[in-house]
Amino acid sequence: MFEELKKLAGNVSNRSMLDLFEDPARAAEFSLSACDMLFDYSKTQLDDTIRAALLKLAADRGVEARRDAMFSGAKINETEGRAVLHTALRNLSGAVVTVDGQDVMPEVLDTLARMEKLAAELRASDVTDVVNIGIGGSDLGPVMAYLALAPYADGPRCHFVSNVDGADIHDKLAQCDPAKTVFIIASKTFTTIETMTNARTARDWLAAHEQGTEGRFIALSSNLAGAAEWGIPAERVFGFEDWVGGRYSVWGPIGLSVMIAIGPEDFRAFLEGGQEMDAHFRTAPLAQNMPVLLALVGLWHNQGMGHATRAVLPYDNRLSRLPAYLQQLEMESNGKGVSMDGADLPYHSGPVVWGEPGTNGQHAFYQLIHQGTRVIPCEFLVAAQGHEADLAHHHQLLVANCLAQSEALLRGRSLDEARAKVAGKFDGDELERQARHRVFPGNRPSTTLIYPKLTPKMLGRIIALYEHRVFVEGVILGINSYDQWGVELGKELATALGPLVTGEASADGKDGSTAQLVGYVRAIAG
Ligand code: F6P
Repeated sequence: MFEELKKLAGNVSNRSMLDLFEDPARAAEFSLSACDMLFDYSKTQLDDTIRAALLKLAADRGVEARRDAMFSGAKINETEGRAVLHTALRNLSGAVVTVDGQDVMPEVLDTLARMEKLAAELRASDVTDVVNIGIGGSDLGPVMAYLALAPYADGPRCHFVSNVDGADIHDKLAQCDPAKTVFIIASKTFTTIETMTNARTARDWLAAHEQGTEGRFIALSSNLAGAAEWGIPAERVFGFEDWVGGRYSVWGPIGLSVMIAIGPEDFRAFLEGGQEMDAHFRTAPLAQNMPVLLALVGLWHNQGMGHATRAVLPYDNRLSRLPAYLQQLEMESNGKGVSMDGADLPYHSGPVVWGEPGTNGQHAFYQLIHQGTRVIPCEFLVAAQGHEADLAHHHQLLVANCLAQSEALLRGRSLDEARAKVAGKFDGDELERQARHRVFPGNRPSTTLIYPKLTPKMLGRIIALYEHRVFVEGVILGINSYDQWGVELGKELATALGPLVTGEASADGKDGSTAQLVGYVRAIAG
């Protein structure tokens, strides 16, 4: 299916991207504005022909029809027989959204109102610490948003416990006052072993400090029976339906910790941002549709040019967990080996997504991005303005660094330029040798998403933008972006290995390596 893209890529892979800028209109023509953001993809090999081919691919693969099906409540998560309607959680207009003929909005808005009431109560109480216990989508969304929106946080402090490693909960509880701490058990299934283990440890911690559990636990889950069984009263349980995927769930009850921290009003602004992006995605023609273009540029690099990874590089220290959040969003969604009908995928699935905030990454792994032998498409994100008005010079430096990186990737440094850099310090063969180490190949692709400021509304737009990008990529790849069977085998084997690690069962019959590792642990830890 991607033969045409590969052919186009073969034609242009050695073309100078810098030369493309001889056309003074290039930057504007290969950029897109929507929802107060500018997406600049001009520093790529895309040209009119390639863009037209990509847009044709999106049209031929039925992106628009599939998008409309998603928003209509059709069961596009076919392997689980579920609708995909996280967008309903941010549908503040309350416009009817039906699943199986039923409007889901009254329930969604009622839950939102209940969350707002509880958040307001907790913000006005003497609670100092809120501990969100959850993992995967029940952790990454809230922690990413909590850190991103720190300038808006004026409620109790939030902590996020996810890992089953006891070090995680131990270190977080050490920061909390047992008399003034509330726990949120965030788990769609209410069965995830890490979360339920940590929740029990939290309960034991309260008991060890002679604290009762009344009013101390809140549950966020689709499994209402499980939450009730755990002893959490109904008024402290916030449910959501199976049409909200874990990695898409920050907009609803799973976002409660964020709401408690920043307040219901700012949380609504976050939802509004997401809703604005939904409206754009639903109505803009493919060629002017930001999530579509973001997806197509990604597919071009992944499928056309054959680049296996992409770096997400936010020049915003508060977006430190965005790369991890996007890792789950993109890799759990589009890391599949079969197409929707179960046939082997005849091409690669989605790319490896990774990254770190700038400028830190510059002093760590950018060396490889600039001079390594593999090409890594980079996605930069940056706000024109920071929150610290008295530190505006920091922000100017931050922005300058961000822009410098994409320029350096584009421009590179030729051997002649490198020679000029070392001339005077070396001569002869040594000058040549030293110069070669200072050459930057350049001609490396990057995109930049730039926006005025990282407000709650802007964060909502950005997250919804990436969600829809993943959707479009998934549709074009022909896979189901909404299941995650690939996480199951490890979970099953971990359960089976538990008794081997404790010594209650023998490792006989395990492969030699696993048996050896179990033996090592048993010998040391007993
Ligand atoms: O194991 C993967 C996963 O199912 C994710 O998809 C999900 O976000 C995470 O585990 C946590 O699941 P739950 O919210 O049910 O505890």
